[in-house]
Amino acid sequence: MLILGIDTTCDDTSVGIVEDGRTIHANVIASQHMAHERFGGIVPMIAARQHVKNVNLILDAALEEAGATFGDMDAVAVSNHQGLLLSLVVGVSAAKSIAIAQDLPLIGIHHLEGHIYSNIMEHEPELAFPFQCLTVAGGHTLLLKIEDHGKYVLLGHTRDDAAGEAYDKIARRLDLGYPGGPIIEKLAQKGNPNAFAFPRPMIDKPNFEFSFSGLKTSVIRAIEKLEQAGEPLPVEDLCASFQQAVVDVLVSKTLRVAEAEGLTRIALAGGVAMNSLLRATLDAAAQERGLRTFSPSPNLCIDNGAMVAGAAYYLWRHRGPSGLSIDARANAPLGLLNLKYKHASKYK
Ligand code: KG4
Ligand code: ZN
Repeated sequence: MLILGIDTTCDDTSVGIVEDGRTIHANVIASQHMAHERFGGIVPMIAARQHVKNVNLILDAALEEAGATFGDMDAVAVSNHQGLLLSLVVGVSAAKSIAIAQDLPLIGIHHLEGHIYSNIMEHEPELAFPFQCLTVAGGHTLLLKIEDHGKYVLLGHTRDDAAGEAYDKIARRLDLGYPGGPIIEKLAQKGNPNAFAFPRPMIDKPNFEFSFSGLKTSVIRAIEKLEQAGEPLPVEDLCASFQQAVVDVLVSKTLRVAEAEGLTRIALAGGVAMNSLLRATLDAAAQERGLRTFSPSPNLCIDNGAMVAGAAYYLWRHRGPSGLSIDARANAPLGLLNLKYKHASKYK
């Protein structure tokens, strides 16, 4: 079964073509980084305009890469929930047009489901239910328990900035470029992670919530202090110390969930899952405790169309097709798709 998946939730226009939820025939991602770089973050109007300009080109490129035509598809899927509204509307409109023109079933998925399923696509059957998923990107940071296809329990999330957002904002303050994650990671490799004692927000709180805004502010204050004193900025040390604080918090909370929920399989997902310090630290800590870790290949970590097509393959069988009346929503709790929120206070 061949599914074409479209993701235009944020700043990347992406189309993937995936067979039976596993074999990726195409995964074309048109990055808009250049268009947003000088603003140090994503400008929603520019993102939407770029999607409108690019979506047909990327559809053509994906079909060419797969050596396929629209007529070869069995269904068309799109991320219609969670993201920038105008950006989502472009992908949803494109998917509806294809579904109508080709008389194909249309499957709407939640963007976070795409991230979760990037692991299932690559690691099933070793990654069996239930498992834990740390979904960590520029727009979200959540700890989820994945009980079955389409069945999620939200265990905790960030109360303010997402981890990737903190990377991006610090990179902007340091004039390093956008997106901040890969740039900070590279600089951090040459820095001392103990040079600055940045806080590890909520690390000792017996819950599964995150907060990265205070950490970001601490880093920015340290930068301001150095600037006011006329001292040169030790950028590599700042990056390394910030990154160590983020990784310490993410890993500590993830392990706490595994213990409290008795979960032995941990999956990482989202753009920040590309971070090698995060992967290595989690892998080592999990191994010590006899837990298994899973993470997607880099091209499935960032926003991409293949994860949408992959998720749609599994979810179509569980939920059926969505129909042409699907909407686009900027803020859509995964709960619309059967999510329970276990409140953190239960774990005190
Ligand atoms: O999944 P994604 O493409 O978009 C969202 O759904 O948000 O993730 C993008 C985020 C950005 O904030 C970017 O700075 C971060 O992922 N990121 C990283 C790395 N690569 C991307 N953060 C830390 N280390 C990386 N290597
Ligand atoms: Zn994402």
